[in-house]
Amino acid sequence: MIMEVVSNAGQMQEIVMGMRRQGLSIGLVPTMGYLHQGHLSLVRRARSECDRVVMSIFVNPLQFGPREDFAAYPRDPEHDLALARDEGVDYVFAPVKEDMYPKGFNTQVTVEGALTEKMCSRSRPGHFRGVTTVVMKLFQIVQPDRAYFGQKDAQQALVIRRMATDLNLPLEIVTCPIVRETDGLALSSRNAYLSSEERRVALVLPRSLEAGRDLIIKGERRVERVRDEITERLAAERAIKVDYVEVCDGQTLADLAELRGPVLLAAAVYVGRTRLIDNIYLEV
Ligand code: PAJ
Repeated sequence: MIMEVVSNAGQMQEIVMGMRRQGLSIGLVPTMGYLHQGHLSLVRRARSECDRVVMSIFVNPLQFGPREDFAAYPRDPEHDLALARDEGVDYVFAPVKEDMYPKGFNTQVTVEGALTEKMCSRSRPGHFRGVTTVVMKLFQIVQPDRAYFGQKDAQQALVIRRMATDLNLPLEIVTCPIVRETDGLALSSRNAYLSSEERRVALVLPRSLEAGRDLIIKGERRVERVRDEITERLAAERAIKVDYVEVCDGQTLADLAELRGPVLLAAAVYVGRTRLIDNIYLEV
């Protein structure tokens, strides 16, 4: 199949109706573009499970705060399309802002509670509402049987899963493992902001989380002890600023009395002006 680029929501919905009539299953991979192997791993998973794969590419203004990097967010549409084509994407849905948010647009989807009260929500108020609103719109337009998200954005995946359950969305949310560089840094479109020195410094993020994980593997069960270990290792790198370190329930993000069950070790740091997030999920 030759990949088709669709820039209009109505047109995308017509194509979807055609696929549905033929009984084809649809996998959706939502992205903001500037594609890397993390995004492409989601496409590969979708291809293995669905008859047709739709990738959306849309830098969603609603999920960026007023002082965040919406305008500067890296964009390279030509390269993205080449990568998507090579990976076997069937349709790229790349709407313009005015199509997703026309004049008068006034509806948003909000997941409440613990899932959106800690971690990235603290430093990025309104962020997840922007995410759930655009993802809900994408679900309505593409009507996927399965939608694919990365564990790299662990909180995002949980929030979207909650929304899908709470609103009885007739689809499956699939969460895929974090893809990393060989030295351990998680792939991210925002890594493009890093200078070579910052790129070196950024490694403290995966290294610190690994140190926390290793403590648990060795038998540590005190939450504070693991959180302190991660925080201290991050703090030892003077060139970064810690946004948060969280050691919590890997499914609900609730505080834990002791380390048992699904556990998420997560952190966000600023390297220069670039905000990076990473996490490790483990069953204790
Ligand atoms: P974006 O940051 O472009 O990421 C798109 C998808 O790729 C997300 O599900 C993210 O978790 C996944 N991803 C990113 N880096 C990854 C890595 N190193 N390994 C595995 N998966 C990775 O997340 C968004 O866009 C937006 O918030 C979006 C869901 C598209 C809504 O606008």
